[in-house]
Amino acid sequence: MYDFSGRVAIVTGGASGIGGATSRRLAADGAKVLIADINEAAAQQNALAIRQAGGIAEISVTDVGNPADLIKMIDIAVEKWGRVDILVNNAYSPTAAQDTEILETTEEAWDSGIAVMAKALFLASKHAIPHLERDGGGSIINISSVHGLLQSANFLVYEASKSAVIGMTRQMAIELGPRGIRVNAICPGHIVTENIQAHMWQDNPSGYAFFEEQYPLRRCGKPEEIANSIAFLCSDQASFVTGHSLVVDGGLSIQLQENLGVRLARYMQDKPETKLPY
Ligand SMILES: NC(=O)c1ccc[n+]([C@@H]2O[C@H](COP(=O)([O-])OP(=O)(O)OC[C@H]3O[C@@H](n4cnc5c(N)ncnc54)[C@H](O)[C@@H]3O)[C@@H](O)[C@H]2O)c1
Repeated sequence: MYDFSGRVAIVTGGASGIGGATSRRLAADGAKVLIADINEAAAQQNALAIRQAGGIAEISVTDVGNPADLIKMIDIAVEKWGRVDILVNNAYSPTAAQDTEILETTEEAWDSGIAVMAKALFLASKHAIPHLERDGGGSIINISSVHGLLQSANFLVYEASKSAVIGMTRQMAIELGPRGIRVNAICPGHIVTENIQAHMWQDNPSGYAFFEEQYPLRRCGKPEEIANSIAFLCSDQASFVTGHSLVVDGGLSIQLQENLGVRLARYMQDKPETKLPY
């Protein structure tokens, strides 16, 4: 546990998944948390869970792809609590993460994906910076992915934006360091959120077992494990860490691909009934 008492945190996409767990974790550690999410009902539900656990949370109905909503989001935090100390840029667009070849990827898909997963980070941070600086520094956390480090076919918009997040994090860290603001990124591996459980794994246990097999830890991650890393990077224990992209992936990305490929081929020989997820 860290001590965020007296601090104000904004978590975009903070209603569910990684953002949901992060909102709960920062609130449990004493922060006042603004859950900024496009899904009002889910945001209310998470805020209620936080309050019932003794924490402080409010919501802002925010579409991070809409620049006016991002200004409103920062204004709500400042109006309610008078300051901003932590900004977690986490929301993303599942439609932008769709599996399409470059030739099938439309200009609209590119624009809307980049707006939510890259431009929103720039604009939310830009509006938060004067408050973060005035309130003694603070911390911005940008959520990238292992997809920001390693490329996968047919995910142009997702890979481009997650790579951009790593570059933007370094850029912001260089420019905001003199203002006392630290900026770091997290690169999660496969994290089993409520959405992923419902849409990918609920009806496919053999596919899930195959996914787990790919990890040196032989399992996928939990939203709370990303929230723990975010809390560390926001905390005073990470006071000399900035511009870093922390890989939290159970070892997925450190493996030599050709050896992994052979091991997975053997796995499929042993378990031919495996139903691949895509
Ligand atoms: N889950 C994973 O395996 C994984 C792996 C690597 C990186 N990530 C990254 O972690 C972040 C969170 O992913 P997740 O899996 O927890 O997602 P999720 O789908 O479980 O939750 C996303 C949240 O964002 C909200 N949201 C969606 N569009 C929004 C918008 N335009 N404006 C505001 N809120 C919006 C949703 O309502 C939801 O509450 C994303 O940046 C994603 O790329 C996830």
